[in-house]
Amino acid sequence: MVWAPDPGAIGLQVERLDTPCLVLDLDAVERNLDAMAQAMRGRVGLRPHAKTHKVPNVARMQLERGALGLCCAKLGEAKVLAAGGIPNLLITTEVVGEAKIRRLLALARQADVMTVVDDERSAHRLSDAAMGAGLRLRTLVDINVGQNRTGVEPGEPALSLARTVDSLPGLELHGVQGYEGHLQHIVDPEQRRTASVSAMDLLAGTVELLLGAGLPIEIVSTAGTGTAAFAAERGAVTELQPGSYVVMDSTYSGVGGLSFENALTVLTTVISVKPGVAIVDSGHKSLSSDLGPPRPIGLAAEFDFQGDEHGKLTFPLGRSIDVGDVVRLIPSHCDTTINLHDLYYVERAGVVIAVWPIAARGRVQ
Ligand SMILES: Cc1ncc(COP(=O)(O)O)c(C=O)c1O
Repeated sequence: MVWAPDPGAIGLQVERLDTPCLVLDLDAVERNLDAMAQAMRGRVGLRPHAKTHKVPNVARMQLERGALGLCCAKLGEAKVLAAGGIPNLLITTEVVGEAKIRRLLALARQADVMTVVDDERSAHRLSDAAMGAGLRLRTLVDINVGQNRTGVEPGEPALSLARTVDSLPGLELHGVQGYEGHLQHIVDPEQRRTASVSAMDLLAGTVELLLGAGLPIEIVSTAGTGTAAFAAERGAVTELQPGSYVVMDSTYSGVGGLSFENALTVLTTVISVKPGVAIVDSGHKSLSSDLGPPRPIGLAAEFDFQGDEHGKLTFPLGRSIDVGDVVRLIPSHCDTTINLHDLYYVERAGVVIAVWPIAARGRVQ
Protein backbone atom coordinates (compact mmCIF):
# COMPACT_ATOMS: atom_id res chain seq x y z
CA MET A 1 0.00 0.00 0.00
CA VAL A 2 1.31 3.43 -0.90
CA TRP A 3 1.69 5.74 2.06
CA ALA A 4 -0.82 8.57 1.69
CA PRO A 5 0.29 11.87 3.22
CA ASP A 6 -2.19 13.51 5.56
CA PRO A 7 -3.92 16.15 3.37
CA GLY A 8 -4.84 18.02 6.55
CA ALA A 9 -1.17 18.79 7.14
CA ILE A 10 -0.95 21.51 4.50
CA GLY A 11 -1.40 24.96 6.03
CA LEU A 12 -0.79 23.79 9.62
CA GLN A 13 1.75 25.39 11.91
CA VAL A 14 4.59 22.85 12.04
CA GLU A 15 4.19 22.40 15.80
CA ARG A 16 0.69 20.96 15.20
CA LEU A 17 1.89 18.05 13.05
CA ASP A 18 1.73 14.49 14.32
CA THR A 19 5.11 13.27 15.56
CA PRO A 20 7.73 12.03 15.07
CA CYS A 21 8.07 13.59 11.64
CA LEU A 22 10.78 15.03 9.43
CA VAL A 23 10.52 18.75 8.68
CA LEU A 24 12.31 20.43 5.79
CA ASP A 25 12.74 24.21 5.92
CA LEU A 26 12.52 25.14 2.24
CA ASP A 27 13.75 28.71 2.72
CA ALA A 28 16.92 27.40 4.36
CA VAL A 29 17.32 24.72 1.64
CA GLU A 30 17.10 27.42 -1.04
CA ARG A 31 19.66 29.57 0.76
CA ASN A 32 22.04 26.60 0.98
CA LEU A 33 21.56 25.71 -2.70
CA ASP A 34 22.12 29.35 -3.71
CA ALA A 35 25.20 29.70 -1.51
CA MET A 36 26.92 26.64 -3.00
CA ALA A 37 25.89 27.47 -6.59
CA GLN A 38 27.10 31.08 -6.25
CA ALA A 39 30.38 30.09 -4.59
CA MET A 40 31.25 27.67 -7.42
CA ARG A 41 29.80 29.48 -10.45
CA GLY A 42 32.46 30.12 -13.09
CA ARG A 43 35.05 28.19 -11.05
CA VAL A 44 34.10 24.51 -11.09
CA GLY A 45 31.10 22.33 -11.96
CA LEU A 46 28.64 20.94 -9.42
CA ARG A 47 27.25 17.42 -9.55
CA PRO A 48 25.58 17.31 -6.10
CA HIS A 49 25.05 13.99 -4.36
CA ALA A 50 21.41 12.88 -4.10
CA LYS A 51 22.26 10.25 -1.46
CA THR A 52 21.50 12.97 1.11
CA HIS A 53 18.10 14.36 0.07
CA LYS A 54 16.81 11.39 -2.01
CA VAL A 55 14.13 13.35 -3.89
CA PRO A 56 13.73 14.57 -7.49
CA ASN A 57 12.19 17.81 -6.12
CA VAL A 58 15.53 18.98 -4.68
CA ALA A 59 17.50 17.54 -7.62
CA ARG A 60 15.46 19.77 -9.95
CA MET A 61 16.24 22.81 -7.79
CA GLN A 62 19.95 21.93 -8.08
CA LEU A 63 19.73 21.60 -11.87
CA GLU A 64 17.90 24.97 -12.05
CA ARG A 65 20.91 26.47 -10.28
CA GLY A 66 23.33 25.11 -12.86
CA ALA A 67 24.25 21.61 -11.62
CA LEU A 68 25.74 19.40 -14.35
CA GLY A 69 23.71 16.42 -13.15
CA LEU A 70 23.29 14.45 -9.94
CA CYS A 71 25.33 11.78 -8.17
CA CYS A 72 23.67 8.69 -6.72
CA ALA A 73 25.21 6.08 -4.44
CA LYS A 74 22.80 3.34 -5.48
CA LEU A 75 21.07 2.27 -8.68
CA GLY A 76 17.76 2.38 -6.79
CA GLU A 77 18.28 6.07 -6.04
CA ALA A 78 19.21 6.71 -9.66
CA LYS A 79 16.09 4.92 -10.88
CA VAL A 80 13.90 7.15 -8.71
CA LEU A 81 15.63 10.28 -9.97
CA ALA A 82 15.41 9.13 -13.60
CA ALA A 83 11.69 8.47 -13.16
CA GLY A 84 11.43 11.98 -11.69
CA GLY A 85 12.87 13.46 -14.87
CA ILE A 86 16.50 13.91 -13.82
CA PRO A 87 18.41 13.01 -16.98
CA ASN A 88 22.09 12.95 -16.06
CA LEU A 89 23.29 10.63 -13.28
CA LEU A 90 26.67 9.49 -11.99
CA ILE A 91 26.61 6.29 -9.92
CA THR A 92 29.48 6.90 -7.50
CA THR A 93 29.60 3.31 -6.19
CA GLU A 94 31.12 0.40 -8.12
CA VAL A 95 28.48 -1.68 -9.93
CA VAL A 96 29.45 -5.30 -9.28
CA GLY A 97 27.50 -8.52 -9.80
CA GLU A 98 25.24 -9.88 -12.51
CA ALA A 99 21.97 -8.51 -11.13
CA LYS A 100 23.33 -5.01 -10.61
CA ILE A 101 24.91 -4.87 -14.05
CA ARG A 102 21.58 -5.92 -15.56
CA ARG A 103 19.84 -3.11 -13.64
CA LEU A 104 22.52 -0.60 -14.67
CA LEU A 105 22.03 -1.44 -18.32
CA ALA A 106 18.25 -1.11 -17.99
CA LEU A 107 18.77 2.31 -16.40
CA ALA A 108 21.23 3.33 -19.11
CA ARG A 109 18.40 2.95 -21.62
CA GLN A 110 16.26 5.47 -19.69
CA ALA A 111 18.80 8.09 -18.62
CA ASP A 112 22.27 9.36 -19.33
CA VAL A 113 24.16 7.28 -16.76
CA MET A 114 27.83 7.29 -15.89
CA THR A 115 29.49 4.61 -13.79
CA VAL A 116 32.75 4.18 -11.86
CA VAL A 117 35.18 1.27 -11.83
CA ASP A 118 38.23 0.42 -9.70
CA ASP A 119 39.06 -3.15 -10.81
CA GLU A 120 40.18 -4.67 -14.12
CA ARG A 121 37.89 -7.71 -13.83
CA SER A 122 34.88 -5.52 -13.06
CA ALA A 123 35.73 -3.34 -16.05
CA HIS A 124 35.77 -6.40 -18.33
CA ARG A 125 32.45 -7.67 -16.96
CA LEU A 126 30.78 -4.29 -17.39
CA SER A 127 32.15 -3.99 -20.91
CA ASP A 128 31.04 -7.50 -21.93
CA ALA A 129 27.52 -6.91 -20.58
CA ALA A 130 27.26 -3.50 -22.21
CA MET A 131 28.41 -4.94 -25.56
CA GLY A 132 25.81 -7.70 -25.24
CA ALA A 133 23.15 -5.05 -24.72
CA GLY A 134 24.41 -2.94 -27.62
CA LEU A 135 25.46 -0.11 -25.27
CA ARG A 136 28.62 1.79 -24.36
CA LEU A 137 28.82 2.87 -20.73
CA ARG A 138 30.34 6.23 -19.86
CA THR A 139 32.90 5.40 -17.17
CA LEU A 140 35.13 7.12 -14.63
CA VAL A 141 38.11 5.41 -13.01
CA ASP A 142 37.59 5.58 -9.23
CA ILE A 143 40.85 6.52 -7.45
CA ASN A 144 41.71 6.01 -3.78
CA VAL A 145 42.86 9.42 -2.53
CA GLY A 146 43.26 8.28 1.08
CA GLN A 147 39.88 7.11 2.35
CA ASN A 148 40.90 3.49 1.71
CA ARG A 149 37.32 2.57 0.84
CA THR A 150 36.95 2.05 -2.90
CA GLY A 151 39.30 3.23 -5.62
CA VAL A 152 42.34 1.94 -7.46
CA GLU A 153 45.63 3.28 -6.09
CA PRO A 154 46.77 6.57 -7.65
CA GLY A 155 49.67 6.70 -10.11
CA GLU A 156 50.62 3.64 -12.19
CA PRO A 157 47.77 1.33 -11.01
CA ALA A 158 45.23 4.01 -12.00
CA LEU A 159 46.99 4.52 -15.34
CA SER A 160 46.88 0.80 -16.06
CA LEU A 161 43.16 0.58 -15.27
CA ALA A 162 42.38 3.73 -17.26
CA ARG A 163 44.16 2.21 -20.28
CA THR A 164 42.05 -0.94 -19.92
CA VAL A 165 38.81 1.06 -19.67
CA ASP A 166 39.81 3.12 -22.69
CA SER A 167 40.47 -0.02 -24.70
CA LEU A 168 37.27 -1.92 -23.85
CA PRO A 169 34.56 -1.76 -26.51
CA GLY A 170 31.63 -1.58 -24.05
CA LEU A 171 33.10 1.26 -21.98
CA GLU A 172 33.85 4.87 -22.79
CA LEU A 173 36.46 6.50 -20.56
CA HIS A 174 35.48 10.05 -19.52
CA GLY A 175 37.66 10.76 -16.51
CA VAL A 176 38.24 10.00 -12.84
CA GLN A 177 36.55 10.17 -9.46
CA GLY A 178 38.54 10.61 -6.22
CA TYR A 179 36.31 11.12 -3.18
CA GLU A 180 37.98 12.06 0.12
CA GLY A 181 35.22 11.11 2.55
CA HIS A 182 37.65 10.72 5.45
CA LEU A 183 38.34 14.48 5.45
CA GLN A 184 34.81 15.90 5.44
CA HIS A 185 34.37 16.18 9.21
CA ILE A 186 37.82 17.49 10.20
CA VAL A 187 36.70 20.31 12.49
CA ASP A 188 39.61 22.74 12.09
CA PRO A 189 39.42 24.44 8.66
CA GLU A 190 43.19 24.80 8.31
CA GLN A 191 43.80 21.13 9.14
CA ARG A 192 41.04 20.19 6.71
CA ARG A 193 42.57 22.37 3.99
CA THR A 194 46.03 20.81 4.48
CA ALA A 195 44.59 17.29 4.31
CA SER A 196 42.56 18.24 1.24
CA VAL A 197 45.67 19.58 -0.53
CA SER A 198 47.44 16.23 0.06
CA ALA A 199 44.47 14.23 -1.27
CA MET A 200 44.08 16.54 -4.27
CA ASP A 201 47.83 16.24 -4.97
CA LEU A 202 47.29 12.48 -5.39
CA LEU A 203 44.32 13.10 -7.68
CA ALA A 204 45.92 15.87 -9.74
CA GLY A 205 49.20 13.93 -10.10
CA THR A 206 47.30 10.94 -11.45
CA VAL A 207 45.27 13.10 -13.81
CA GLU A 208 48.53 14.52 -15.20
CA LEU A 209 49.86 11.00 -15.72
CA LEU A 210 46.69 9.90 -17.53
CA LEU A 211 46.57 13.01 -19.72
CA GLY A 212 50.27 12.55 -20.49
CA ALA A 213 49.43 9.04 -21.72
CA GLY A 214 46.91 10.55 -24.13
CA LEU A 215 43.83 9.32 -22.26
CA PRO A 216 40.58 11.31 -22.53
CA ILE A 217 40.18 12.75 -19.01
CA GLU A 218 37.60 15.52 -19.24
CA ILE A 219 35.92 14.83 -15.85
CA VAL A 220 37.71 14.99 -12.49
CA SER A 221 35.02 14.56 -9.83
CA THR A 222 35.63 14.88 -6.08
CA ALA A 223 34.76 16.50 -2.73
CA GLY A 224 31.90 16.73 -0.28
CA THR A 225 30.44 19.55 1.79
CA GLY A 226 33.50 19.80 4.04
CA THR A 227 36.12 20.02 1.28
CA ALA A 228 34.24 21.59 -1.64
CA ALA A 229 35.77 25.04 -1.12
CA PHE A 230 39.31 23.63 -1.08
CA ALA A 231 38.87 21.27 -4.04
CA ALA A 232 37.40 24.15 -6.06
CA GLU A 233 40.77 25.91 -5.82
CA ARG A 234 42.51 23.09 -7.71
CA GLY A 235 42.86 23.54 -11.45
CA ALA A 236 42.70 19.80 -12.11
CA VAL A 237 39.25 19.41 -10.51
CA THR A 238 36.34 19.87 -12.91
CA GLU A 239 33.37 19.11 -10.63
CA LEU A 240 32.31 18.66 -7.00
CA GLN A 241 29.94 16.10 -5.42
CA PRO A 242 28.68 17.69 -2.16
CA GLY A 243 25.51 16.25 -0.63
CA SER A 244 24.95 17.31 2.97
CA TYR A 245 25.17 21.08 2.35
CA VAL A 246 21.51 21.05 1.26
CA VAL A 247 20.20 20.34 4.77
CA MET A 248 23.27 19.97 7.03
CA ASP A 249 23.18 18.15 10.41
CA SER A 250 24.54 18.70 13.90
CA THR A 251 27.83 16.94 13.07
CA TYR A 252 28.48 19.18 10.07
CA SER A 253 27.41 22.23 12.13
CA GLY A 254 30.40 21.52 14.35
CA VAL A 255 32.78 21.55 11.37
CA GLY A 256 34.55 24.91 11.20
CA GLY A 257 34.37 27.30 8.27
CA LEU A 258 31.06 26.13 6.75
CA SER A 259 28.23 28.64 6.47
CA PHE A 260 25.37 26.36 5.38
CA GLU A 261 22.24 26.33 7.56
CA ASN A 262 20.41 23.50 9.29
CA ALA A 263 17.31 22.92 7.18
CA LEU A 264 16.28 19.56 8.63
CA THR A 265 14.64 18.79 11.96
CA VAL A 266 12.79 15.91 13.52
CA LEU A 267 9.72 17.09 15.40
CA THR A 268 9.03 15.10 18.54
CA THR A 269 6.48 15.27 21.39
CA VAL A 270 7.06 15.04 25.14
CA ILE A 271 4.99 12.04 26.23
CA SER A 272 6.11 11.66 29.85
CA VAL A 273 8.03 13.68 32.45
CA LYS A 274 10.05 13.15 35.63
CA PRO A 275 12.09 15.63 37.67
CA GLY A 276 14.77 17.07 35.34
CA VAL A 277 13.78 14.69 32.54
CA ALA A 278 11.37 14.61 29.59
CA ILE A 279 10.67 11.50 27.51
CA VAL A 280 9.94 12.13 23.83
CA ASP A 281 8.43 9.93 21.12
CA SER A 282 11.55 9.66 18.93
CA GLY A 283 14.17 6.93 19.15
CA HIS A 284 16.26 4.86 16.78
CA LYS A 285 13.39 4.42 14.30
CA SER A 286 13.14 8.14 13.54
CA LEU A 287 16.68 9.40 14.25
CA SER A 288 19.90 7.76 13.12
CA SER A 289 22.56 7.29 15.81
CA ASP A 290 25.68 6.41 13.79
CA LEU A 291 27.07 9.90 14.45
CA GLY A 292 25.65 10.26 17.96
CA PRO A 293 22.51 11.81 19.46
CA PRO A 294 20.55 14.68 17.87
CA ARG A 295 20.72 18.23 19.22
CA PRO A 296 17.55 19.79 20.68
CA ILE A 297 16.87 23.33 19.46
CA GLY A 298 16.38 26.08 22.03
CA LEU A 299 16.67 23.85 25.08
CA ALA A 300 19.48 23.43 27.62
CA ALA A 301 19.06 19.68 27.43
CA GLU A 302 20.93 16.56 26.33
CA PHE A 303 19.31 13.81 24.25
CA ASP A 304 19.86 10.11 24.95
CA PHE A 305 18.35 7.29 22.95
CA GLN A 306 15.91 5.18 24.99
CA GLY A 307 15.31 2.42 22.46
CA ASP A 308 13.45 2.30 19.18
CA GLU A 309 10.59 4.68 19.94
CA HIS A 310 11.78 6.84 22.82
CA GLY A 311 14.35 9.48 23.64
CA LYS A 312 15.26 11.11 26.94
CA LEU A 313 15.92 14.82 27.36
CA THR A 314 17.89 15.57 30.52
CA PHE A 315 17.87 19.15 31.83
CA PRO A 316 20.87 19.80 34.10
CA LEU A 317 19.45 23.22 35.04
CA GLY A 318 15.88 22.04 35.60
CA ARG A 319 13.19 20.89 33.18
CA SER A 320 11.65 23.70 31.14
CA ILE A 321 9.05 21.72 29.15
CA ASP A 322 6.03 19.57 29.97
CA VAL A 323 3.88 16.72 28.62
CA GLY A 324 2.44 17.55 25.21
CA ASP A 325 5.11 20.09 24.30
CA VAL A 326 6.84 19.59 20.99
CA VAL A 327 10.58 19.83 20.50
CA ARG A 328 12.68 20.17 17.36
CA LEU A 329 15.78 18.02 17.09
CA ILE A 330 18.65 18.52 14.65
CA PRO A 331 19.73 15.05 13.47
CA SER A 332 23.39 14.17 13.92
CA HIS A 333 23.53 12.63 10.42
CA CYS A 334 21.21 13.85 7.68
CA ASP A 335 21.54 11.04 5.09
CA THR A 336 20.77 8.20 7.47
CA THR A 337 17.98 10.04 9.32
CA ILE A 338 16.22 10.97 6.07
CA ASN A 339 16.44 7.30 5.10
CA LEU A 340 14.21 6.44 8.09
CA HIS A 341 11.27 8.61 6.97
CA ASP A 342 8.57 8.29 4.31
CA LEU A 343 7.80 12.00 4.05
CA TYR A 344 9.25 15.47 4.23
CA TYR A 345 6.87 17.98 5.78
CA VAL A 346 8.01 21.03 3.86
CA GLU A 347 7.75 24.33 5.72
CA ARG A 348 8.19 27.98 5.00
CA ALA A 349 8.26 30.31 8.03
CA GLY A 350 6.80 27.66 10.32
CA VAL A 351 3.83 26.71 8.10
CA VAL A 352 3.55 23.40 6.21
CA ILE A 353 3.34 24.18 2.49
CA ALA A 354 3.80 20.69 1.02
CA VAL A 355 4.34 17.04 1.86
CA TRP A 356 6.93 15.29 -0.31
CA PRO A 357 7.34 11.53 -0.43
CA ILE A 358 11.02 10.68 0.11
CA ALA A 359 10.95 8.66 -3.03
CA ALA A 360 14.43 7.10 -2.82
CA ARG A 361 14.45 6.29 0.89
CA GLY A 362 15.33 2.68 1.54
CA ARG A 363 16.79 2.25 -1.97
CA VAL A 364 19.84 0.45 -0.62
CA GLN A 365 20.40 -1.71 -3.70
C1 LIG B 1 31.23 9.33 -3.26
C2 LIG B 1 30.62 10.44 -2.45
N1 LIG B 1 30.62 11.68 -2.96
C3 LIG B 1 30.08 12.72 -2.29
C4 LIG B 1 29.51 12.55 -1.04
C5 LIG B 1 28.88 13.74 -0.35
O1 LIG B 1 29.48 14.08 0.84
P1 LIG B 1 28.83 15.09 1.88
O2 LIG B 1 27.48 14.56 2.25
O3 LIG B 1 29.76 15.07 3.00
O4 LIG B 1 28.73 16.40 1.20
C6 LIG B 1 29.50 11.28 -0.46
C7 LIG B 1 28.94 11.08 0.88
O5 LIG B 1 29.04 10.10 1.53
C8 LIG B 1 30.07 10.19 -1.19
O6 LIG B 1 30.08 8.94 -0.69
